[in-house]
Amino acid sequence: HPEVAHTPQGKEILRHFIFDICGCHADWTPGAFVETAIREIQARVGEARVLCALSGGVDSMVAATLIGRAIGERLTCVFIDHGLLRAHEAEEVMELTRDLQLKLIAVNAREEFLEKLRGVIDPERKRKLIGAEFVNQFDGVARSLGNFEFLAQGTLYPDVIESAHASGTSQNIKTHHNVGGLPTTLPFKLLEPLRVLFKDEVRAVGRELGLPARVVMRQPFPGPGLAVRIIGEVTEERLEILRAADAIVRAEIGAAALDFEVWQYFCVLTPIQTVGVMGDGRTYENVLAVRAVTSKDGMTADWARLPHDLLARLSARIVNQVRGINRVVYDITSKPPGTIEWE
Ligand code: XMP
Repeated sequence: HPEVAHTPQGKEILRHFIFDICGCHADWTPGAFVETAIREIQARVGEARVLCALSGGVDSMVAATLIGRAIGERLTCVFIDHGLLRAHEAEEVMELTRDLQLKLIAVNAREEFLEKLRGVIDPERKRKLIGAEFVNQFDGVARSLGNFEFLAQGTLYPDVIESAHASGTSQNIKTHHNVGGLPTTLPFKLLEPLRVLFKDEVRAVGRELGLPARVVMRQPFPGPGLAVRIIGEVTEERLEILRAADAIVRAEIGAAALDFEVWQYFCVLTPIQTVGVMGDGRTYENVLAVRAVTSKDGMTADWARLPHDLLARLSARIVNQVRGINRVVYDITSKPPGTIEWE
């Protein structure tokens, strides 16, 4: 793994291989990418209409903006609210798309997703069920609208690699739902203009397109959302606990002005219960893990060295303010050997 930060001279090995041995040149710029991508989208789509699955994350926002530039009114965005988002996130997505003047159809499918997830514990099963229900919901919208030839998604290169099947060149680590979960029977042609980019390149393209910093610097969020941050069964009650804790972590890291330095920060609700003491009473409640990592592209990551005072504030606030949690732990695992998400 020469690409991993702690390989001595790893970057030098790659640089030598790419430039000296393979004879490649570093001539990629976000401006040139935007120009080429717009031309390619126009050539491929022609006069057809495109539906874009919008999650509100950087990837789908950049993809939608790029496609919007290329084909204008013939793009319609669809936001499926699966109820697995963080606090206030669904509202933020709608506000953002309004600001960007993208045509949006929002679907509230919270109950349907929760029903599908009832009793499900296995991470891959969660991903597959969410992916399938997502497609089902999306298909419903598409049918009701009629006559869309293309489906656009903000798939990135890491999704492509990490969802590749074991028979291919990369091992299947996790089935990221925006790639692995799509059945080949979908009546659309796929339009994935960011498929060859890494996250830092997508951000550069977003800036090139003039998207605001709060969109471009938004931290990555998995398609299956909080479902893969709840170890064990996903219930509305556990989602509420996780959302409340997550909101505290976001507020504190934001207040410490570290939110743009850390690649991703979030909470994981574990099914483990431990003994605690509150006032004069004994408690027996859940352990919450806080995870914060630094990374350049999500392929490798290091745990963030958050200041101890900040960790102390997080822990005190969470245990005091979120009912159902009596212990907070901080994850000190890098990727590899860990992955960023726990599931
Ligand atoms: P891992 O956990 O594999 O995560 O180290 C790498 C990056 O991908 C995000 N992630 C996902 N994104 N669907 C997604 O769209 C998924 O199922 C999924 N799982 C992980 C993760 O948040 C990190 O940024």
